[in-house]
Amino acid sequence: MTLVPSREMETSARTGLIKLTLSSFRSYKSLSLSCDARPVILTGANGAGKTNILEALSFLGPGRGLRSAKLSLVTYAGEPPLKESPFEWSISSHFQTPEGVTSVGTGLEISEGRERRVVKIDDDRGLPQTALSQVTSILWLTPQMDRLFVEGTSARRKFMDRLVYLFDRSHAARVARYDYTMRERLKLLKQGRHEDAWLSSLEAKMAESSIAIAAARRTLVERLMQAKVWALGVFPRPRLEIEGVPEDLLETLPALSAEERLQSLYKANRLKDYESGRTQEGSHKTDLRVWFTEKNMPAELCSTGEQKALLISIIMAAARLQAAQEGLVPLVLFDEVVAHLDEQRRQALFDEILHLRMQAWMTGTDRDLFLPLNDQVQHFEVEKSTLTPV
Ligand SMILES: Nc1ncnc2c1ncn2[C@@H]1O[C@H](COP(=O)(O)OP(=O)(O)O)[C@@H](O)[C@H]1O
Ligand SMILES: [Mg+2]
Repeated sequence: MTLVPSREMETSARTGLIKLTLSSFRSYKSLSLSCDARPVILTGANGAGKTNILEALSFLGPGRGLRSAKLSLVTYAGEPPLKESPFEWSISSHFQTPEGVTSVGTGLEISEGRERRVVKIDDDRGLPQTALSQVTSILWLTPQMDRLFVEGTSARRKFMDRLVYLFDRSHAARVARYDYTMRERLKLLKQGRHEDAWLSSLEAKMAESSIAIAAARRTLVERLMQAKVWALGVFPRPRLEIEGVPEDLLETLPALSAEERLQSLYKANRLKDYESGRTQEGSHKTDLRVWFTEKNMPAELCSTGEQKALLISIIMAAARLQAAQEGLVPLVLFDEVVAHLDEQRRQALFDEILHLRMQAWMTGTDRDLFLPLNDQVQHFEVEKSTLTPV
């Protein structure tokens, strides 16, 4: 693939992680890693500790990381954590950004039997997890995501929302607020406390968040559907559509009317929601539908290889769009992805990563696949949770 210098080449400053410290995280009792903003390759045998590192990085964004893990299972199982540390496990990092170096840390605290993930950004402690998306942009593709198109809507919705975080740094907080209000309303309904004023106020908040969430999701998909972001010529070009009640309302109505309609819907569903114990309609049901454009085939009917290629296309298009709009690129974690690509696609992906100056973290068992990249990347061999530069 020939590289044509483009606007993003000039504007995207190198951003990336330059220091990572783990304590009591998975197979790492402790780890201290220094690197620069070039891509990072981790190779090694199965069980060496490659995915654990990517998982740690995924915790530098909001959510439960790339394994959707129960937080207490992440704690190093070898021996109890250090007594002087209040954390079960913790991660601290330094990110190089165009504005300078930012420190981002997170960890699990358990007090009085309650798990709490705490977040620190520079000198601000005790931040909510959603604050992470204000400073980091992290996406990932893992073997578990081979099932993204065939399983329930939740993983696809999370995937879509993570893409939205790149462009709308308040989106994570908005989604968290919606989920919280939805749970509060359901709690009231289940307790049989059907006071109209209270429920109406919660439903108004839900409707407001839903429409804001829907607008951000629609903006993402509209921007991605602009042809110029699909740069990976040998990869399929997906077509994306959002299916969801709030998103559909915004298709035909101005935001305020859409909000009112949604609020009436929440009100009309009270009895159904009470009886079923779940909220029937809303932002938490929205789905991302993907098609393989050239074949006009829904992604769920495509081969596993094609599905992976579609996901890579979407991730790289989002990265390219972020580079063009904000002069930034996300950090992308590709777990065991490269070995599954044919030569031509592998080369196209490498070229685009280097072109965008993206700090991609790529794992694999086969060292040789990455050797052609030589000093354009930093390569570590992982063995028994110890990293050695190659
Ligand atoms: N909480 C934990 N404490 C200690 N070891 C763990 C924990 N969770 C997972 N492991 C171990 O980490 C090892 C490395 O896992 P992983 O990073 O997934 O390897 P890979 O290099 O194949 O990606 C596995 O052998 C697994 O048993
Ligand atoms: Mg692995």
